[in-house]
Amino acid sequence: MSGVVTFDGAPPPGTINLAIGQPSADMLPVDLIRNASESFFNEAQALEFNYGVTEGDSRFLDSLARFLSKHYAAPASAEQLFTTAGNSQALDMAAVVYAKPGDTVFVEEPSYFLAFQILRDHGLNIVGIPVDDDGLCVDALQQQLGQHSPAFLYTIPSYHNPGGQCTTAERRQQILGLAEQHDFLVVADEVYQLLYYFDPPPPAYGTMTASNRVVSMGSFSKILAPGMRLGWIQTSAELRNRLMASGFVNSGGSINHFSSHIVRHAIDQGLLESHLGHLRIAYRSRVAAMDAALKKHFTGLAQWQRPGGGYFFWLKFHDSVDTGKLRGKAAELETGFQYGAVFSSKGNFSNCLRLSFAHYNEDDIQEGIARMRPLFDDARPIATTLDGSV
Ligand SMILES: Cc1ncc(COP(=O)(O)O)c(C=O)c1O
Repeated sequence: MSGVVTFDGAPPPGTINLAIGQPSADMLPVDLIRNASESFFNEAQALEFNYGVTEGDSRFLDSLARFLSKHYAAPASAEQLFTTAGNSQALDMAAVVYAKPGDTVFVEEPSYFLAFQILRDHGLNIVGIPVDDDGLCVDALQQQLGQHSPAFLYTIPSYHNPGGQCTTAERRQQILGLAEQHDFLVVADEVYQLLYYFDPPPPAYGTMTASNRVVSMGSFSKILAPGMRLGWIQTSAELRNRLMASGFVNSGGSINHFSSHIVRHAIDQGLLESHLGHLRIAYRSRVAAMDAALKKHFTGLAQWQRPGGGYFFWLKFHDSVDTGKLRGKAAELETGFQYGAVFSSKGNFSNCLRLSFAHYNEDDIQEGIARMRPLFDDARPIATTLDGSV
């Protein structure tokens, strides 16, 4: 079908490209969106199609506040919320509103590679802070604060892209303490916060806005559909006022007003709630399939942790492996991965790669990983525990 392709372009027929970090077609709830749209159109008045107020439609923000109060297990109010077109747009806006060209921003090392470009588009200098299995390394953050005064820290606290880990609750508090002490903002990309498949992650930064240091970005891309292009920022009154004063929203009004009507109906009718339950069950099974396939084919060759949520496994190979050089061969074998160095602001992680379990079913995941194995026939072994994890 022309016009229906993935963002990265459709992979060649037969290829299982585990680089693709997007939902498969069966995870996109067409009936839900149809039902919510019908419900909206059945009662829509002409003025719904006018510009919306800068922060977003108050009925949508009320519904979202109820949804977040439940799912973040902490009271959220419409006054903390601002409608966005998803986390990419929200980060772009944060880079304009909360920083100026030439400022330094901290990112995690590794981090979501497409965020680097958004930040660089605005003339920001990127400084990477290492992460470990417990998330952002606070000691390293503290050390870098001795040398830089960042406008903000961009962090992916839950089910990191690409690492899959969560920053612990204790570290989140410590990071916030440093933000207060050193006067920088924590711009938290909480796009995977609700996509947990086992235990819930630590509390979202969205529940910590009283500090006046937090800009929590949430999105319907992963819990509903990326094509809705709808998300939100949860923050303090003062920081929200700065968003509302931006030239962009003053000219265009509520960002993606139309989608916010549809999603309001999806929330109010409980459709989003049940879809989230469905996603958790479906992705949990894909996590298990990927973990099992990795144990079968990569034990002794790679280290990884089974993620508790999100979309990704992050594999580390022996230092002598360069995953970037294996991409062409992977395509010949009709498989694919996202190579490690792309996730670094300074070219690190060439011995790592990221696999997504969002775009393929269990059988394809197993087959894609089996096809990948010959690429690493000559790789030197790496120490692993018995279950294949680090
Ligand atoms: C960490 C992270 N942030 C942002 C995005 C994009 O989010 P959105 O579709 O809400 O713009 C993604 C998508 O893969 C992501 O993984």
